[in-house]
Amino acid sequence: MSTLLQLNTSLFSTQGQSSQLADRFVAAWQAKHVDGRVVSRDLAGHPIPHLDAERFLSFIAKPEERSPAQQAVADFSDTLIAELKNADVLVIGLPMYNFGIPSTLKAYFDHIARAGVTFRYTEKGPVGLLEGKKAYIFATRGGLYAGTAKDSQTVYVRDFLNFIGISDVEFIYAEGLNLGEASKAAALAGAQERLAQIA
Ligand SMILES: Cc1cc2nc3c(=O)[nH]c(=O)nc-3n(C[C@H](O)[C@H](O)[C@H](O)COP(=O)(O)O)c2cc1C
Repeated sequence: MSTLLQLNTSLFSTQGQSSQLADRFVAAWQAKHVDGRVVSRDLAGHPIPHLDAERFLSFIAKPEERSPAQQAVADFSDTLIAELKNADVLVIGLPMYNFGIPSTLKAYFDHIARAGVTFRYTEKGPVGLLEGKKAYIFATRGGLYAGTAKDSQTVYVRDFLNFIGISDVEFIYAEGLNLGEASKAAALAGAQERLAQIA
């Protein structure tokens, strides 16, 4: 049985363009994987706290030396990591906000990057520990960036996922959503066509 983990990160939760594309993909995936399991997180509706020193120190403290509060923080991170570890497919709805990823997704990444758990350092450099997964990223933008140096989002998300071992990452773009109705309609139609092909 396949498991899919969906992370929607739009400020507008289910109303976001990225969420709607991701939801559409997940519905198509479910239709093809009738016994598949879907786990969803809405990072706008249920935000993950920013990583601060207290939380980071909770991650790296020895389990037997953690205070109850530190243990709760570590348990929360462990839950997020277990969800990801159990998933065969990762789907992220990824709007561009102010040239970057939503801060809620950064907070999520900060809670799943754990040395010795999702990656480890070796003499040859870091090795990701979450292997054998496929990631689909539904990237929505008001302007046009894909394939240009201004698209720092794609490089960053791909690099982060590669770092933790997720090397099979496909981006599906809907760009130019704020460049008029014709541009928006064409971009959404293109993304929908692509998602129907790959679901
Ligand atoms: C706060 C905010 C910041 C944005 N910043 C950018 C940006 O830097 N570049 C861009 O092309 N579009 C930008 N946009 C437009 C969004 O990328 C676009 O509307 C996209 O569809 C948002 O996805 P969503 O509907 O899933 O939230 C921004 C939108 C918002 C609300």
